[in-house]
Amino acid sequence: MSPVLVAETDTGVVELGPALSIFDPVYIGTDEFGQPVKLPLIYRNLLIGGEPGAGKSGLLNGGVAHAALSLDCKLCLFDGKQVELGQWRDCAEVFVGPNLGDALSVLKRLQIMMDRRYTYLLACQRRKITPHDAFLPYVVAIDEIAYFSATIGKKLDREEFASLLRDLVARGRAVGIIVIAATQRPSSDIIPTSLRDLFAWRFAGRCTTNSSSDIVLGQGWAQLGWSANTISPTNPGAGLLIAENGSPQLVKVAYLDDATCAAIAKYAATLRRTVRERVEDRQPVAA
Ligand SMILES: Nc1ncnc2c1ncn2[C@@H]1O[C@H](COP(=O)(O)OP(=O)(O)OP(=O)(O)O)[C@@H](O)[C@H]1O
Ligand SMILES: [Mg+2]
Repeated sequence: MSPVLVAETDTGVVELGPALSIFDPVYIGTDEFGQPVKLPLIYRNLLIGGEPGAGKSGLLNGGVAHAALSLDCKLCLFDGKQVELGQWRDCAEVFVGPNLGDALSVLKRLQIMMDRRYTYLLACQRRKITPHDAFLPYVVAIDEIAYFSATIGKKLDREEFASLLRDLVARGRAVGIIVIAATQRPSSDIIPTSLRDLFAWRFAGRCTTNSSSDIVLGQGWAQLGWSANTISPTNPGAGLLIAENGSPQLVKVAYLDDATCAAIAKYAATLRRTVRERVEDRQPVAA
């Protein structure tokens, strides 16, 4: 029988339920036939684009919620606005607000970790991490790439941010670094084709033009009738999802309101803290 985890809360001792795994597909919403849409995120990255109010942060929060409840992964959160991902900060290893210096230092640390993991895998004659490895996958969630890569700070620093991010997206997959990044500005200066194509999953919420939609989904889809410009501005969370080598599909993202996010985040933080304390204390858990 698997051990039961208990935690002390304000209202007494409660039994903690089962957790999720980052190696499981992540539920993001329903397709146009009402069927659930699940994305395997391990060994992959997700790009989310769309105009302001399209529902990008909603999708990002759904992914982060799954990651927070997955005790087999760690979180790094970047949020210039602070309030979009702020509720998850107690679940994260690091939370970067509107500070480009902090963002650069976290990305550099992730890059060093990535290189060391590859050195380890090479020494073990392996090509990717598995659920049995001692080191855990990282979900790196960024709400508004353009804020860090094109808005604040000095030009040189912004360029360094863009190149570090590109490196993580390009090389991080096999060592369990999953980047989920949103952008309000699906323009070629923010998402050059070479960067876009590194994201296995791409979601285009409503876009103002066919060309912005193509920047997220890939060149030529608008001409074939798949443009996120056709999505109603009164339907936030609806968008076109495409996987590498696949065709777009219409998805309505499941929305977690503030109270639900807060409740999940509190539960996930308790779960994580309890497990960490158990490991640190080396105390046996209640049977
Ligand atoms: N999946 C959804 N279902 C229903 N309503 C949603 C959904 N996603 C978002 N909304 C509504 O749309 C509003 C804007 O969503 P959200 O903040 O996710 O947009 P955004 O694309 O991140 O905007 P911005 O670019 O300004 O950050 C939300 O406050 C919510 O009311
Ligand atoms: Mg947002």
